[in-house]
Amino acid sequence: MVVSSATIDSLLKEKEQYPPSAAFRKKALTKDDALGRDAAKDPEAFWARMAKDFTWIAPWSKVLEWTPPFAKWFVGGRLNVSVNCLDRHLAGPRRNKAAIVWEGEPGDRRVLTYHDLWREVNRFANVLKGLGVKRGDRVTIYLPMIPELPVALLACARIGAIHSVIFGGFSARAIRDRMEDAESHLIITADGGNRRGAVLPLKKIVDEAIADLDLVQHVVVFRRAGLDVPMREGRDHWWHELMAEALPVCEPEAMEATDPLFILYTSGTTGKPKGIQHSTGGYLVGVATTTKYVFDLKDEDLYWCTADIGWVTGHSYIVYGPLANGATVFMYEGAPDWPEPDRFWRMVEEYQITILYTAPTAIRAFMRWGDEFPKRHDLSSLRLLGTVGEPINPEAWRWYQKTIGGGRCPIVDTWWQTETGMILITPLPGVTTTKPGSATRPFPGIEAEVVDENGLPVPSNKGGYLVIRKPWPAMLQTLYHDPERYQKVYWSQVAGKYFTGDGARVDEDGYFWLMGRIDDVINVAGHRIGTMEVESALVSHEKVAEAAVVGKPHPIKGQSLVAYVVLKRGHTRSDGLTKDLQKHVREVIGPIAVPDDLYITEKLPKTRSGKIMRRVIRSLVSGQEIGDTTTLEDPGAVDEVRKWLAEVQGTGS
Ligand code: PRX
Repeated sequence: MVVSSATIDSLLKEKEQYPPSAAFRKKALTKDDALGRDAAKDPEAFWARMAKDFTWIAPWSKVLEWTPPFAKWFVGGRLNVSVNCLDRHLAGPRRNKAAIVWEGEPGDRRVLTYHDLWREVNRFANVLKGLGVKRGDRVTIYLPMIPELPVALLACARIGAIHSVIFGGFSARAIRDRMEDAESHLIITADGGNRRGAVLPLKKIVDEAIADLDLVQHVVVFRRAGLDVPMREGRDHWWHELMAEALPVCEPEAMEATDPLFILYTSGTTGKPKGIQHSTGGYLVGVATTTKYVFDLKDEDLYWCTADIGWVTGHSYIVYGPLANGATVFMYEGAPDWPEPDRFWRMVEEYQITILYTAPTAIRAFMRWGDEFPKRHDLSSLRLLGTVGEPINPEAWRWYQKTIGGGRCPIVDTWWQTETGMILITPLPGVTTTKPGSATRPFPGIEAEVVDENGLPVPSNKGGYLVIRKPWPAMLQTLYHDPERYQKVYWSQVAGKYFTGDGARVDEDGYFWLMGRIDDVINVAGHRIGTMEVESALVSHEKVAEAAVVGKPHPIKGQSLVAYVVLKRGHTRSDGLTKDLQKHVREVIGPIAVPDDLYITEKLPKTRSGKIMRRVIRSLVSGQEIGDTTTLEDPGAVDEVRKWLAEVQGTGS
């Protein structure tokens, strides 16, 4: 990776400041920096104190065992995550409190109390056991956003099975690859899920994924959409039939704090997704603590994180973090603009949602749809707003603050990653004065830093690489099956520090300003996509010889994908072929990875040693300055690429 500091120097200089209002502060869980000061003195003692809030079957003997790059948190401690999210609340007044308030896209509704959820989870845990799932086995989950999704996660946690959730926007091929990588014998799905008035045929996609995958022994199918789906005798089972037969109580497994809780695949800089492996004890303590303090979560709140549980945000901040805190979580199945662009605001008003956590791409879409939609509704129940997934432009931040938050709600811009498991850089809403566009400061106990290529801290307001200096409880344990790649990707770029892959600068007040990825991973509508993955998908098409994929700025999605493709000899460009190639990417990875623009070209610009000049293409396509060209073997290359781009673009997509 070669990126000059010039290219990541930030030009943003925001002076505007928003201190927490006196009204918010008065009731906030934390009003001053005591947590931060406390944690800075002794981070391990701080996390140990946070961990004491939970139910442990056996206490830990050591808070942290750090053998770089492998961290073990709460060594010797034993616990069960489902007990902490469910059983723990049954003894007190939360027993009959709503855990999940759900609305389906067609408008159907369900409410599950903590006791209801406990019952569902226990039965489903017994269903999994009945199908032969044992502690340590991997269970794949491909479900729509229905209450059965958290039920499935918690049931795995109860019996010590490791879940691997796959987002509904991934294709059959992607499911197959992930099931093979995880050696998973069982998949949980539904006949279909509702999205923008249509039905996504999930079971059909699963059938295609596992058609020749002998490893799969069982498919559990929840009936959601009423689709007529073929059920293969002996392999496929209806969720409701198994549940009707299952015993009502399942004793929780006593898991080691260091046992894995789940794997979640995410894109990296190669063609192969990475199986991010998270722990049991450290993960629980990290996500539960951040949920409580970042969202100032109280028993009376109705908290809504609009992410899909197919992504890490849903794992940490719909399921584990909020339920470990005994919160009431709102969950919605469908699209934000169905049947009209006021759907979110109608639900905020109707259910009196108090905390809303969403993504910049959604905020920009709402801005574009127009103020009339939020204005149709009374949003005064909201008291706190959050954002995650990509840098938020100050204009969108201000719109969110004013139009949705009525100028009254603090905004928490939370920076983190699939790998970090928990929020690492964020305001504390009763404490931190926010600046639009900045994720502000590290959470108590977290040491973040911006460094140069040599790992040395850069002066304030100078761009560099964001690294984390010390282990934190919810950090990834490793990459599933691949500790070497874990070491190489995260711990070898800057010695002894966790390399995030993000560019950032720290301003004169110690505030962090995130500036996007500095590697070949891009963020499309909050979905993380590796350009190499899309390139591999394109090259797997029989007519494609070579491909280069880069990101370019997009007004709503943040970035969109642009692909340049060279065909094998004997094939010629046509509109039909362009469409075929887009369809091919849809089949190999899924709809989320289809390039918006696809150009078929005679050749790709390369260095003298034959490497495609992706960085130059990317910079020119994004309209960024090129920065340091000394690393290019031929500085004239920039002009060459510029000329090439003009020619290619002229041919249309
Ligand atoms: O580039 C950063 C961006 O999203 C990346 C992580 O993506 P993923 O693992 O899919 O997780 C997304 C949800 C946690 C980061 O490397 N990112 C995430 N949050 C922010 C952000 N960039 C700027 N500001 C944020 N608040």
